[in-house]
Amino acid sequence: MDKLIITGGNRLDGEIKVSGAKNAALPILISTLLVDGPVTIRNVPNLHDVTTTMELLGSMGIDLLVHECMSLEIDSRTIKQFFAPYDLVKKMRASILVLGPLLGRYGKATVSLPGGCAIGVRPVDQHLKGMEALGAKINMQNGYIEAYVDGRLKGAEIVNDMVTVTGTENILMAAVLAEGTSVIKNAAREPEVCDLANFLNTMGAKISGIGTDTLVVEGVERLHGGEYRVMPDRIEAGTYLAAAALTRGRIKLKNAAPETMTAVLEKFTEVGAKITTGDDWIELDMEHRQPKAVDIYTAPYPGFPTDMQAQFLALNCVADGTSNVVENIFENRFMHVQELKRLGADIEVHGNTATVIGKPSLVGAEVMATDLRASASLVLAGLMSQGETSVGRIYHVDRGYECIEEKLSQLGAKILRAPGK
Ligand code: EPU
Repeated sequence: MDKLIITGGNRLDGEIKVSGAKNAALPILISTLLVDGPVTIRNVPNLHDVTTTMELLGSMGIDLLVHECMSLEIDSRTIKQFFAPYDLVKKMRASILVLGPLLGRYGKATVSLPGGCAIGVRPVDQHLKGMEALGAKINMQNGYIEAYVDGRLKGAEIVNDMVTVTGTENILMAAVLAEGTSVIKNAAREPEVCDLANFLNTMGAKISGIGTDTLVVEGVERLHGGEYRVMPDRIEAGTYLAAAALTRGRIKLKNAAPETMTAVLEKFTEVGAKITTGDDWIELDMEHRQPKAVDIYTAPYPGFPTDMQAQFLALNCVADGTSNVVENIFENRFMHVQELKRLGADIEVHGNTATVIGKPSLVGAEVMATDLRASASLVLAGLMSQGETSVGRIYHVDRGYECIEEKLSQLGAKILRAPGK
């Protein structure tokens, strides 16, 4: 398994491009299952999770072509199987997203139940409740969700018990071809959900209320082919901003979407960074200052994203002052704390709160990635650790960060990938 070896201490300074958003690309690629014609999706990030999604669609018999610069052409009309196997679902939980479109378009789906996860229990009860409300019959059999409907799904009002991103997306995709109108209340407002809804509308869906907590879906008979460009990745962007901030550096991000990052950019200002934005760029400059510690409280959008919690925790480890980081979305999303402590970080966890006492720098050591954002936080901490830090199990990083070592090297970091045993 490959490792990333980082020699810390370099102040980052430079310019990089933000990739397409993983958490928008995955549902958009999967939602092509609903479309009756060829679709071209641009700005798809080159990530392991995207490869897994292509494998999943390919395993169903769907035609996929990869053009230059990760533009994907997909024609789902060649589908032969309505099945997502355990092997792929356990590799990538977002595979559960095939449930809604398969039911909506073909009236049947067999999808493995995702198992546990490093960051929390992550049940899918809201996805299933939504499908049932739309008229699907669901059976659990040998670890699989078997769902079917006689004829078409029927529009319904669905109130989600909690804000769930993929839950909202799954129900939304199921409702697009349903008969009549569906109303999804307490819907997730995350920009990635909006990007999926905008994609579906571009293909002929009738979704309104995009960006609010109530989505209204007027069912249509069919979606037509077309083209779409995936939104920029706000979490990747935030991760590189954090890398620059904790090394007291400067960064300019191109192809970014600052309007999707208000809560995160406000935190960087609180940290002491000078933030400047344009339509599609963000610049952060620490002007060589040590960041100030900031309290973090994760919440659904437009609150501070749980997917940026680990990176800010790493930043607080090398900040001036004491901070509290409160995780409200997932019950076990502090796996990086033990690893950060191996680098000398001063962190105490009580329940869902991590209290961090900042210091000027950490000390390099061997650490191990446990999930995607946790591994990003270890790479960031390595950038501000004296000597060498080796981050193992970086297949987690490759699930969500395109060419991380190249982008960080471009900013002046000393980082290389070493093949591990
Ligand atoms: N939940 C339930 N029942 C459900 C669905 C969710 O109890 O049926 C709970 C979860 O256990 C969790 C909370 O609701 O406590 C919110 O989970 P959500 O469903 O919103 O998470 P998700 O849709 O599985 C997506 C992202 C995650 C991101 C979360 C929260 C994708 C593919 N994944 O997951 O991204 O952390 O929303 O914003 O969109 C990542 O990119 O590293 C990542 C983990």
